[in-house]
Amino acid sequence: MVGSAVCRRLQSEAGVRLITRTRAELDLEDFDAVEKLFKSERPEAVVFAAARVGGIHANNTYPVEFLTENLNAQLATIGAAYRSGVKRFLFLGSTCIYPRMAKQPITEDQLLASPLEPTNEAYALAKICGLKLCEYYRRQYGVLYHSAMPTNLYGPGDNYHPEYSHVLPALIRRFHEAKESSAPNVTIWGTGSPRREFLYVDDLADALVHLLGQTNPPDWVNVGSGRDQSILELAHLVASVVGYPGEILTDPSKPDGTPRKLTDISLLKSTGWKPRTDLKTGVEQTYEDFRSHLAAGSLRSV
Ligand SMILES: NC(=O)c1ccc[n+]([C@@H]2O[C@H](COP(=O)([O-])OP(=O)(O)OC[C@H]3O[C@@H](n4cnc5c(N)ncnc54)[C@H](OP(=O)(O)O)[C@@H]3O)[C@@H](O)[C@H]2O)c1
Repeated sequence: MVGSAVCRRLQSEAGVRLITRTRAELDLEDFDAVEKLFKSERPEAVVFAAARVGGIHANNTYPVEFLTENLNAQLATIGAAYRSGVKRFLFLGSTCIYPRMAKQPITEDQLLASPLEPTNEAYALAKICGLKLCEYYRRQYGVLYHSAMPTNLYGPGDNYHPEYSHVLPALIRRFHEAKESSAPNVTIWGTGSPRREFLYVDDLADALVHLLGQTNPPDWVNVGSGRDQSILELAHLVASVVGYPGEILTDPSKPDGTPRKLTDISLLKSTGWKPRTDLKTGVEQTYEDFRSHLAAGSLRSV
């Protein structure tokens, strides 16, 4: 999702030649193949948007794969980039690698300030190593390797798996299916009161290009919308965009999770960037994308 958005954003940038590889063309855990690619293509800058990602269930069940695959891909790519003369490297962290009890809204100095969330510890440890490795390359070798910490993303290219997708694409799918089947109501998990923040993926891509243009970017910087809403408010918004007329019920017997997750985006704003896409517009565009992929039989659901 992120890699495609970065490509969309850079296509409109004059003088940029994009070099991309699909997973089938290049396994980033294959150190030799990665080294060869960098030596032959010699990119000037790299945006590292690949990762093994997943929800709580996958993270909790496969910690070995989440730690080793992400570490391997990061070590192979960051090292090969440096050895081939790349001066600029932008690594993708995530706000979910901040500590479990991070102070809200989350500021950049919360990283490593207290224990991690146990369910995604392996993923967070791998990501923190990637982010720190970039910081060390910058400090030790004077190259501009730095990181962005996006909040929850949504938009074109999202994953609509019925069980494993994130809350926003899951709601789009559920309300769409409820509309199609004329279901009288849709029940959402928990009380609906936890507050969450979302950023449209094309806004993230724009922020990444902005960061690549900074001469002295922070080692890591939060990228979010800076606004949160309750899950129930989000459900009502998605239902209205989808055109679902039925009732929305909550199920307080199901767990709510953290009451609030919001990032502080003052640091990014101080560099002259702010998000553009409001949640309603972003959800409308995402629903359009969902419908066109559904019609074409190409909906991502893995
Ligand atoms: N989505 C969010 O809400 C969110 C929020 C914060 C941060 N981020 C960060 O943004 C980055 C991109 O996330 P995304 O949402 O765009 O995930 P995504 O859509 O799943 O994209 C990740 C891509 O990386 C590929 N990949 C994984 N391991 C690889 C390997 N060894 N070699 C080659 N390709 C490999 C995946 O291929 P396969 O599909 O074949 O595995 C997939 O195409 C990640 O670092 C993630 O932590 C995402």
